[in-house]
Amino acid sequence: MPATIVVGSQWGDEGKGKVIDWLAEDADLVARYAGGDNAGHTVTVAGERYALHLVPSGILYRDKLCLMGGGMVINPASLLKEMRDLEAHGVDISSARLKISSSAHLILPYHIALDGVQESGRGADAIGTTKRGIGPAYADKSARVGIRAGAMRDPEEFSEKVYRAVEQKNRILTQLYGQPALEAKVIAAEFHDYARTLAPYIADVSLIVNQAMEADKRLLCEGAQGTLLDLDHGTYPFVTSSAPTVGGALAGLGFGPRYVDRVVGLVKAYTTRVGAGPFVTELLGEEGDRLRGTGADPWDEFGTTTGRPRRCGWLDAVVIRYAARVNGFTHLALTKLDILSSFDVLKIAVAYEYQGERLEHLPPDSEILAACQPIFEEMPGWSEDIRGASTLEDLPLAARQYVKRIEELVGVPIMVIGVGPGREQTIIR
Ligand code: IMP
Repeated sequence: MPATIVVGSQWGDEGKGKVIDWLAEDADLVARYAGGDNAGHTVTVAGERYALHLVPSGILYRDKLCLMGGGMVINPASLLKEMRDLEAHGVDISSARLKISSSAHLILPYHIALDGVQESGRGADAIGTTKRGIGPAYADKSARVGIRAGAMRDPEEFSEKVYRAVEQKNRILTQLYGQPALEAKVIAAEFHDYARTLAPYIADVSLIVNQAMEADKRLLCEGAQGTLLDLDHGTYPFVTSSAPTVGGALAGLGFGPRYVDRVVGLVKAYTTRVGAGPFVTELLGEEGDRLRGTGADPWDEFGTTTGRPRRCGWLDAVVIRYAARVNGFTHLALTKLDILSSFDVLKIAVAYEYQGERLEHLPPDSEILAACQPIFEEMPGWSEDIRGASTLEDLPLAARQYVKRIEELVGVPIMVIGVGPGREQTIIR
């Protein structure tokens, strides 16, 4: 069976870039299925660090076909910048290697402007979005007024469409939000140029995927964000506007579940979250600061896309169990275990307490989740630096016990453990 789907099991930033890069080695096609440049996947190859936001990580191999699915929202300006950066590093980003689904929606400058004013308007209830225009672009898609990538095939007509759309959104921006109008003519001209460059990349991604799988090629579906940020299954309204969960891969790429044989849940060895919303195991003091790092190291817990410090806390097994249920994980990939070295005691939330009652399952309502207290189990920590470990036996006993306990609590085997940012700092089981 040819398809593997990779899904974040927490609030994103699980270190997907590295694991996807490792899994991509065995894939023929690598596809992003949802989200946009709110994502940031960091991959370190031969000491060189790549921060990818839109282009699938498979691009860093020479022989993979990379697909951007119809479930994505794409800012053409960001995409072209990323393509130019990759090219400057000698990466082949020709249309023979990279395809954009004609049904992916485009992010226009008014989406970004609206994201900004709508966030400000929420005041204390702000979601803490990445301000990349993601929510407004998906809102237009649902309202059936979005502009799709396929429209770029005809740059003239596309630019007129963009012009009309900017004029129309200007009414909302100026009359409803009291914002300055955007320059429709300038934007239309810019987008005309983007279309001329990107038109050769537009393709029927669903057809490519299905033909490849019929031919027994292997597909890796690269998730972005995480289960708890899913529009339906996350901590609504503190979520993103796409479906980062397993169903989003099928819907976003246009293929059926009979091709899927692995669903890999990415689990960071502790928990982080960027933006607002409930976070039961959050650590607000010195331990949280230790998990976060100072920002001096790119591996520290600061956003790849926005640079914001991430909120940090202990591992929450209730969250991972929930993600395993929603996505049907067949395997887990544990990341950043090395960051836990030097804690005397580690804690894992195994259940919650809510109004004096013990909850084994994550409550689907954010208001209830916000009022839950963690019920922790304590485990001994370890002091050894584990970044050189290449087998499970190289790990100290306490680290092995921690790994085993996660498998027990979630009921899904861990196939790979990350002990550092490099490709080689990976324990494969
Ligand atoms: P949006 O996707 O920009 O609308 O942001 C909505 C929420 O999702 C905010 O809390 C963001 O911080 C969060 N978010 C979006 N993308 C990512 C990501 O790639 N990693 C972590 N959090 C994200």
